[in-house]
Amino acid sequence: MKITFAESAKADIAAFIVDEGDGLPAAAAALDKASGGLLSEALEGGRFDGKTGQQAIVVLPKGAEARRAVLIGGGKAKKRDARALENIGANLIKAIASSGFKSASIAAPDAESAARVAAGAKLAAYRFDTYFTKLKPDQKPSLSGLTVLSPDPKAAKAAYGPLDAATDGTYLARDLVNLPPNDLYPESFAAKVKELAPLGLEVEILGEKQMAKLGMGALLGVGQGSVKESQLGIIKWNGGKAGEDPVILVGKGVCFDTGGISLKPGPNMENMRGDMGGAAAVVGTMRALAQRKAKVNVVGLIGLVENMPDGNAIRPGDILRSASGQTIEVQNTDAEGRLVLCDVLWYAQEHFKPKAIVDLATLTGAIVVSLGHHHAGLFTDSDDLAAELTKAGLAEGERVWRLPLGAEYDVQIKSKFADMRNIGGPAAGSITAAQFLKRFVKEGVKWAHLDIAGVAWVEGEKAPTDPSWASGYGPRLLSRWIADNYE
Ligand code: BES
Ligand code: MN
Ligand code: ZN
Repeated sequence: MKITFAESAKADIAAFIVDEGDGLPAAAAALDKASGGLLSEALEGGRFDGKTGQQAIVVLPKGAEARRAVLIGGGKAKKRDARALENIGANLIKAIASSGFKSASIAAPDAESAARVAAGAKLAAYRFDTYFTKLKPDQKPSLSGLTVLSPDPKAAKAAYGPLDAATDGTYLARDLVNLPPNDLYPESFAAKVKELAPLGLEVEILGEKQMAKLGMGALLGVGQGSVKESQLGIIKWNGGKAGEDPVILVGKGVCFDTGGISLKPGPNMENMRGDMGGAAAVVGTMRALAQRKAKVNVVGLIGLVENMPDGNAIRPGDILRSASGQTIEVQNTDAEGRLVLCDVLWYAQEHFKPKAIVDLATLTGAIVVSLGHHHAGLFTDSDDLAAELTKAGLAEGERVWRLPLGAEYDVQIKSKFADMRNIGGPAAGSITAAQFLKRFVKEGVKWAHLDIAGVAWVEGEKAPTDPSWASGYGPRLLSRWIADNYE
C-alpha cells in the first residue's frame, strides 16, 4: 500500500477522525453538506460517538466527492498520544483494506499526527500470504493507496520518514519470523541479509570453518546436530564518522529450536520457527538505519543455527569450550540460545570497541510467565542504558521492563565439571539466563539484554497495528533508541 501526504485528495473513500463526544470534525463539513447531511446522520441514533475502535461507514450519493465516507472513532482528543494515532490509522485499514475500493484519504489535524496515522496504517496493512495458493481476488486486499491529509504535507512527510523506515524494518522482521523453517534456515537467512547490501549495508557471512578458527565452540555445538551449516552474520551500517566506535546489536538466530536431544514436547513446537526473532529484530533495525541514512555507526551481529536432535547433536553432559575460553557444561540442550549468544557477544568485543551492546533473544519461556506479551524483559547493570531503552520503548510502543541481575544468582549456574552450566534450575529462569550472558561481557562494557520471547510473536487478539503472528518487535524500539542517544 502506497502512502502519500497532501492538503487535499480525491479518493474512493474519505475518512475522518471523530473526537469522542465532539460531533463531526470541520474537515468533514463540506462533504456532509454536499451529501445532504449524511455524515451528521451517522452520528445520530446509532451508538457511534467517536469512541476508540468505533467506526461508521456512510454510503454517499452518486456524484459525491467520494464513494464512501468513513468516520473513525478517535477517542478523547486530549488523551491522544502516538499509540492512539497509530491505532486510528490501523483501525481505518482494518475497516477498508478489503472493501473493494482502491484509494482512501484520511484527514489529520497536524503534521505529527498525520505521520503517526500513516505509520499505524502501514503497520496494519502488513500481510503474510505468499504461501496461500488459492486466494480468490475478493480474499486479497483491494486498497492500494492512502493519502493522509494535513495542512502541511511537507512537514508530515518529513516526520513520517523515520517512522516509515522503522516500519519497513518491522515488515522485514515479521517476514523473517513468519517464514517456515524449511525455507528460512541459517544459509537462506544469511542470503536474505545479503540482499540488503544495495541499501548501503556491508554484509559479511562467516561459515562453520571460520567460526571454528575463532573458537566458537558453544555456537557450533548448538548447530552440530543440524544438516544446515551454522552462520555468523556481520552487518555494518557506517553512517557516522569514519573510525567512530559502533553501537552493536546482537541477535539470537535459532532458525528452528526443537530443543535438541532435550527434545521439546510436540504441542506448539511449530512456534519455534520464530526462535530467530532476535536476529530478525537486528536485521530489521539495520534496514531501518540504512533507509533513513542514520548518522551513526552500527554493527549488527546474528548467530544463525538450527537446534536439532541427531546422532551428531550435543548431549546433556557435554562440555563446550566457548570463544572466550570459558567452558560450559550442557545440562539441557534446549537452553541453546545462551550458547549461541555467548560466542557472538565475545566476537563483538574482540573485533570492535562497542559504545554499547544490546542483545535480543527469544531466550526463555520464563519471561513469558513473568511479563506476558506486552513488555520485553530488560537486563542491564547500566541505569543509563535502562532509562534510554525504557524511554524509547514507551515512545514507539515496543515496551521493555527491567528485571534484576545479581551475583547471588550465580550459584544456580555453577557446574561440578566446568566453569558454568547452561541451566539454572526452575527459579528465576530469565535472570539466570541473563546472568549466564553477563559472564561473556567484559568489565566496563555498556550492555543490555532484551528477552523477547513473549513479544516476538503473539497468538490471539492484539493491537490493530499488529495484524500477523509475528509482531516484528525490535526495529521501532532500536531505531528510536539509536536516534535519541547516538546520532
Ligand atoms: N527458544 C526457547 C525459549 C522460548 C520459549 C521462546 C517459549 C519463546 C517461547 C529457549 O531456547 C528455551 O528452550 N529455553 C528453555 C530454557 C530452559 C531449558 C532452561 C525454556 O525456557 O524452557
Ligand atoms: Mn531452546
Ligand atoms: Zn531457543
